[in-house]
Amino acid sequence: MAAPRAAQARALALRREIDRHNRLYYVEDSPEISDAAFDEPFPELQDLEAAHPELATPDSPTRRVGAVPGDAFDEVTHRVPMLSLANAFADEDVAAFDRRCREALGSEAVDYSCEPKFDGLAVSLAYEHGRFVRGATRGDGSQGEDVTANLRTIRAIPLALEGAAPALLEVRGEVLMLRRDFESLNRRQAEAGEKTFVNPRNAAAGSLRQLDPRLTARRRLSFYAYGLGAFEGFEPPATHAALLDRLAALGFPVAKDRLVTRGLQGLLEFYARVGAKRAQLPFDIDGVVYKVNRVADQEKLGFVARAPRWAVAHKYPAQEATTELLDIEVQVGRTGAITPVAR
Ligand code: IVH
Repeated sequence: MAAPRAAQARALALRREIDRHNRLYYVEDSPEISDAAFDEPFPELQDLEAAHPELATPDSPTRRVGAVPGDAFDEVTHRVPMLSLANAFADEDVAAFDRRCREALGSEAVDYSCEPKFDGLAVSLAYEHGRFVRGATRGDGSQGEDVTANLRTIRAIPLALEGAAPALLEVRGEVLMLRRDFESLNRRQAEAGEKTFVNPRNAAAGSLRQLDPRLTARRRLSFYAYGLGAFEGFEPPATHAALLDRLAALGFPVAKDRLVTRGLQGLLEFYARVGAKRAQLPFDIDGVVYKVNRVADQEKLGFVARAPRWAVAHKYPAQEATTELLDIEVQVGRTGAITPVAR
């Protein structure tokens, strides 16, 4: 029996509210509400779905945590290998990259699409007929681990594509932990007497590889899309910049700091501009990535070893600082618990 119109309308309104706050938090980086308010629409939606089970579709936001814990992750073979990127450290390395692209394409100046290099973990998300069905880690590039149940708990990852349902679409991107979520996780860990994490990347890696998705769900992870894997029944845009816009329209967070520019000068300006605001970004980055913008040109350039010839990662110096351990003090708490404190 179909749910009454009023219940349907209310469930739709609650889902829209949840989607809007997800977007504000994960895409716009401007959360409007507190964490408590973030979770507010859930109980009412759960009650509605319990009363009218036909409203509880698999892509309902209440169904993010579902699977029971397994004892290992299955292996997944990537239909399109997940490659790595060549690194550039100095301006001359970037100049050499630009020269190789110009020569191979026989053009005076090449258009590039620039974006941050997220410091997280690469994953591949498979959507069949618009629904998220499988997600895997990069692994060795050919085979990764099936972490679907954990990826479903990440609110930045859409469970259903917006306004499109190709037979297959694999979206590739980076799972990471926003700095504010990393800090509150470490605060909670310390309060509970649990181990704290060294950096957001380690926290994200540890959280994604939990065998119990309920644990992953408690760690707030984020996601940014930056590319495609295999696809069927999907017409890929002609440029990387248009692909990012398309991914955004399908409901994926993509880098806000992205730019199309022509020639070497624009690349170096982007590097400097993003570098200057690196500390203010909501997440860690370890560089920026330049990709030849036109897909037809990418195909002409092809691959060498396990990296595309049409892209390069321009790295920033490591942000970790060296500190000197002066002393280790031992604090004895009220309950007699002993805590070593580094000076
Ligand atoms: S593109 C074929 N774009 O960097 C090109 N990768 O060393 C494949 N990464 O494993 C990658 N941000 O985890 C691309 N905006 C970005 C990226 C990015 C981070 C990571 C990714 C990949 C590694 C390559």
